[in-house]
Amino acid sequence: MAEANIFSALIAHCKEYGYIFPSSEIYDGLSAVYDYGQNGAQLKKNIRDYWWKSMTQLNENIVGIDASIFMHPTTWKASGHIDSFSDPMIDNKDSNKRYRVDHLIEGFADLNRTNGNEQLADEIIAKIDKLLASDDFAGLKKLIEENNIKCTTSGTCNWTDIRQFNLMFSTELGSVAEDASTIYLRPETAQGIFVNFLNVQKTGRMKIPFGIAQTGKAFRNEIVARQFIFRMREFEQMEMQFFIRPGTQIEWYNYWKEQRLQWHISLGIPKEKLRFHDHIKLAHYADAALDIEFEFPFGWKELEGIHSRTDFDLSRHQEFSKKKIQYFDNEINKNYVPYVVETSVGLDRLVLTILSLAYAEETWKKEDGSEDSRVVLKIPAEISPYKLAILPLVKKDDLPEIAKQVMNDCKAHFHCFYEEKDSIGKRYRRMDAIGTPFCVTVDHQTKEDNTVTIRYRDTMTQERIALYDVKKIVMEKIN
Ligand code: GAP
Repeated sequence: MAEANIFSALIAHCKEYGYIFPSSEIYDGLSAVYDYGQNGAQLKKNIRDYWWKSMTQLNENIVGIDASIFMHPTTWKASGHIDSFSDPMIDNKDSNKRYRVDHLIEGFADLNRTNGNEQLADEIIAKIDKLLASDDFAGLKKLIEENNIKCTTSGTCNWTDIRQFNLMFSTELGSVAEDASTIYLRPETAQGIFVNFLNVQKTGRMKIPFGIAQTGKAFRNEIVARQFIFRMREFEQMEMQFFIRPGTQIEWYNYWKEQRLQWHISLGIPKEKLRFHDHIKLAHYADAALDIEFEFPFGWKELEGIHSRTDFDLSRHQEFSKKKIQYFDNEINKNYVPYVVETSVGLDRLVLTILSLAYAEETWKKEDGSEDSRVVLKIPAEISPYKLAILPLVKKDDLPEIAKQVMNDCKAHFHCFYEEKDSIGKRYRRMDAIGTPFCVTVDHQTKEDNTVTIRYRDTMTQERIALYDVKKIVMEKIN
């Protein structure tokens, strides 16, 4: 099946099996906003916990915090987001449709690539990077016009000039209009870490180098939001700011770049599906930056950003708050504003990564020559929503009672799913579709010899194991 069709099938599957729903769907949804269903929420939590544990438990010098979404408005003046957190946009005069310029041009390049015109695609991509890096809007518009890039709605090439649009959502704090002040929904979680630098450093008696980690919602008014949960207006980030001595940033940048790549691999993402992409145009706060990209069904795209943020943020907060934000380094007997290396990964993008790797449509020939098929989510067992399904073969002869005993024995240790409706074959298929890695079936033989059948999702093989070994075997496999 073509990649685009597989991606559409995955989106439909996520909805059908309780992973991801369009937000407020009964009112026809809200563009680029999604809700996680019972299985999606658990998968997302498992990935978040995996990240949190690897950051804050496995690194003795990294601690976690949970800062508010609302922050003092001066935060965003200091961080530079009010002045420069914007994207270049262009409007089509006939359809009034607005496009992010880089997406419009990249879409055209992708189309050419799909149609076999790789050379033109490469030339265009190389040009956009250069033009964006120098904020050359006239050059970008010329590129659009020269290639006759059309609006997908009107089909015309009748474009406005290119303008910058700020991506932050604002709202009012206070109920009376005159007293209200404009505040913003945070566009990144990082600033909650920077403004708490001194609080954490002092109360935790942290010594440089050390890190502060945080997971939480971020909001961006993405003008062109596409590709399911890849680009959303409300999304979740998992960020870590690593505070270091000035001058050591390249060493730590290289360290975290490798660490984070290995972390993705440890999550089950194949190495060949990941790559580094160095930034040519650097954000206003960075002296070096790269993306860890993943090969999504719609192409190579950013999954995580690694940024050497210098002392930009802490210095700016020092300047705007007029409070000294410095660290006394007694190894060198010096006060300084620490430098920062940031790792920032989108949790929703990780969910999409895991789901797109896991989704498979399989067909095979049975012994009698007929065909069979299934749709399966081969999610790594460590992060799958359910670990074990417990299935009595029939709803009688005391089999449900034995199955419930297994459930009671296991459910405090890992997520279990109990089901007694439908044929065993149908129940296995349902568990495959949800991504449950192990099923145990309690049958009449169980009553005779205290054994059950364990079925492995990925290979569909089955074996007989002792009833009292179920918990131990599953725990070994998920740890
Ligand atoms: N604090 C740095 C920062 O926010 P970023 O590259 O803008 O850097 C970091 O964002 C990560 O957040 C990205 O790599 C991506 O995974 C995720 N992300 C950014 N915008 C997103 C969006 N609109 N929808 C989903 N995830 C997004």
